[in-house]
Amino acid sequence: MKNRHFASTLLHWYAKHKRDLPWRNTHNPYIIWLSEIILQQTRVAQGLPYFEKFLEKFPKISDLASAPSDEVMRLWQGLGYYSRARNLHQCAKDIMTMHNGEFPNTYKELLKLKGVGSYTAAAIASFAFGEAVAVLDGNVFRVLGRYFGVSEDISSGQGKRAFEALANEQLSNENPAEYNQAIMEFGALQCTPKNPDCTSCSLQEGCFAFKENLVRDLPVKLGK
Ligand code: ADE
Repeated sequence: MKNRHFASTLLHWYAKHKRDLPWRNTHNPYIIWLSEIILQQTRVAQGLPYFEKFLEKFPKISDLASAPSDEVMRLWQGLGYYSRARNLHQCAKDIMTMHNGEFPNTYKELLKLKGVGSYTAAAIASFAFGEAVAVLDGNVFRVLGRYFGVSEDISSGQGKRAFEALANEQLSNENPAEYNQAIMEFGALQCTPKNPDCTSCSLQEGCFAFKENLVRDLPVKLGK
């Protein structure tokens, strides 16, 4: 069942505490896609200069698609997980050749792109096109797992499906983009993995983990 207090508290918190990050001031799917690929497995502080460098060098997807691959790989140098850079470049070329240079505008179609998994497809679909689809990343698992007291293992298929259902149930249909940013930001800044400051938390009231003293134990991650 939808808990309106949860979504509205997150949105209020976000309006007050959000970081001013460049990919948040746009609906351009190229810019959002670029930021999300760079931020996979990478912290904001580390990814930010790469994001700026890429956007300066390749302001449009056609610029990225037509660049030589050694230039793309050289710009990526230092970020790690180099398959991301190869997929990024291939995806840009595919969009030019198969999609007339335009990003697909639905979650389902975005999912077919190279290097775009369910998290990234949901991020682009909601941030760029306003589609009501919930993002699920480590931050979201943690916030939902603690607040709603989900005891399922996030590394199991069954656990992932349970979180996905809960995430989409709680998603604000009026403002899915803002809601998705808000829950991720809340996980990054307030509901942190270690030693979260529950005394200052606006979701403390109603938080299962806080009430049951299970903040350290949720979410459950058994595998890997
Ligand atoms: N990490 C991954 N995606 C992000 C985003 N859109 N904003 C902040 N941090 C992120």
